[in-house]
Amino acid sequence: MKHFVDISRLSRQSLEDLLAVADDMVPLAREGTDLAAGKILATLFYEPSTRTRLSFEAAMQRLGGRALGFADAAASSVAKGESLADTIRTVDKYADAVAIRHPAEGAALACSFYSEVPIVNAGDGGHLHPTQTLLDLLTIKRELGRLENLTVVLTGDLRYGRTAGSLALALAPFKPQVVCVAPEGLELPPHITRRLRAELGAAVEETEDLAAAARGADVLYVTRIQQERFFSADDYLKVKGSYVVDKKIVGLMRKEALVLHPLPRVDEIPPEVDADPRARYFEQMRYGVPARMALLAVLLGLAGKDIPYREVKGEELDLACPNPRCVTTSEKYLKNLYAPILARAESLFGELGEGKRYRCLYCDYEVVV
Ligand code: NCD
Repeated sequence: MKHFVDISRLSRQSLEDLLAVADDMVPLAREGTDLAAGKILATLFYEPSTRTRLSFEAAMQRLGGRALGFADAAASSVAKGESLADTIRTVDKYADAVAIRHPAEGAALACSFYSEVPIVNAGDGGHLHPTQTLLDLLTIKRELGRLENLTVVLTGDLRYGRTAGSLALALAPFKPQVVCVAPEGLELPPHITRRLRAELGAAVEETEDLAAAARGADVLYVTRIQQERFFSADDYLKVKGSYVVDKKIVGLMRKEALVLHPLPRVDEIPPEVDADPRARYFEQMRYGVPARMALLAVLLGLAGKDIPYREVKGEELDLACPNPRCVTTSEKYLKNLYAPILARAESLFGELGEGKRYRCLYCDYEVVV
């Protein structure tokens, strides 16, 4: 593994190997180690963050290394019009690894094409958030005792929230039952449900009945409506507060089930739920440090064995990606790269129309040529 952009590029075995390293890091996240002494992590955050950036910096420092970077792109040369490619070609001279959060979908993959050091995707728009998923998996494994055959209920903004889809894709090799409870228009993006069903063979169900879903859940994964990704305030107000996981809902859940949330929360989990033993989102947050320590240690070649990462080679097509949020729309010098869709269940792709089907290599948007 050279870069960590998309967690679904790891096989089940690789995920288990990475989680085993994370297990070893749990005590070291408190005690500290000098494993990464002399190494520097750069954190480039073009979008707001509390947990992800601070836990990356804490992880690097607990490993004995150092962290530098910016939390506000307005303070960097982006404000002078510098491209992402040139920014990365600068930072890779100063640091041994780079964690980047950017509003454009596919930004981290684009950076990986220009970087001499490992790139870690710390969130690329509404697309992916693989390190959150890594800590979610670590939380589930440690707090529930297993990853296999889980019923995972995803609720909230599944369309623009990058954490829910990332979790479903990563769990796919562990044969989950995925149940989605989302307001209209905020369902999981079609490229994710199709990938889950047609390529990964995972069971995905949609329902409006949060209470029934909660009753059957091993994990209830709650997400915030992503106000900042709406094009109009009206559209946000229509869905705001539509699914609330309150004491009544949590009371229906099995005793050993978990309520997780990547945080920050707004109004989808009232504070009265925090005292319930099933509410485990604060513990989940704590796992962010050992999970990121493990990832950095592996990428820097300091821990674990080599973890294979499935690289997908793109084909260049004479077609600009139609997704306005794709990194190729803002960073014009990028090649239009696509990966052919290899579907097991052809029937699920009917609505895309006839022709050769591809997915944008950066943002996964599906096109037919
Ligand atoms: C999430 C994110 O940034 O996607 N937060 C996080 O990293 N813990 C969730 C969110 O912002 O809603």
